[in-house]
Amino acid sequence: MYMKERLQKLIAAAGLASRRQAEEWIEAGRVTVNGRRASLGERAAPHLDRIEVDGRPLPRRQKNVTVMLNKPAGYVTTRHDPQGRPVVGELVREISERLFPVGRLDLQTEGLLILTNDGALAQRLAHPRHHVEKTYLVKARGLLQSSELEQLARGVRLEDGMTAPARVEKVRHTGSNTWFELTIHEGRNRQVRRMCEALGHPVVKLRRLRYGALELGPLPIGRYRVLSARELALLQKI
Ligand code: URA
Repeated sequence: MYMKERLQKLIAAAGLASRRQAEEWIEAGRVTVNGRRASLGERAAPHLDRIEVDGRPLPRRQKNVTVMLNKPAGYVTTRHDPQGRPVVGELVREISERLFPVGRLDLQTEGLLILTNDGALAQRLAHPRHHVEKTYLVKARGLLQSSELEQLARGVRLEDGMTAPARVEKVRHTGSNTWFELTIHEGRNRQVRRMCEALGHPVVKLRRLRYGALELGPLPIGRYRVLSARELALLQKI
């Protein structure tokens, strides 16, 4: 069953006017419900009733869509690239809403990227004040010693200052490389790559596995999925 809401609230939610102004329009007879002049205090269901202002239907409330994409390496985190390189926007083109990436992954970084048309959510998540934890799977060249891993965790001096404490987990050495998970809550430009470079171990491969409480999980590379209500709630809590 659809909820009925006061007309002035529906008109304001559609972005046409403030509630006060909408009340004035109702009183002035400019608003109709199913072809009948509306009265102040009346309620209607936006999906069932035909609400018109000056004979024009109320625009539909924009639906918020938020997805998680497993970004492939080689894709730019944008909707359009003037240089014509592949962009993440192409990978979500089946979705008719205009989705924008939240934050950025470097061209060669893969993994969890959130895209949304919910401007308020995007702004909140991207704000440094919120310290969203991000976990990356890192493959770095060379065999990192435990003292170097500790340094990554404690803080590395970069040209824009010391990095904040981070977590290093699941370390393993393969051949001449070191794999580990690094969790940071800052979002400086190319931060993980610069931290590893500062220790003389360039990053060979970088994949974001987690963003706040969200996990990339088994989503194939290049594919996206719409977030579940539970996942959205986790994001909204940030
Ligand atoms: N750190 C990096 O260096 N690159 C990214 O894309 C994300 C975090």
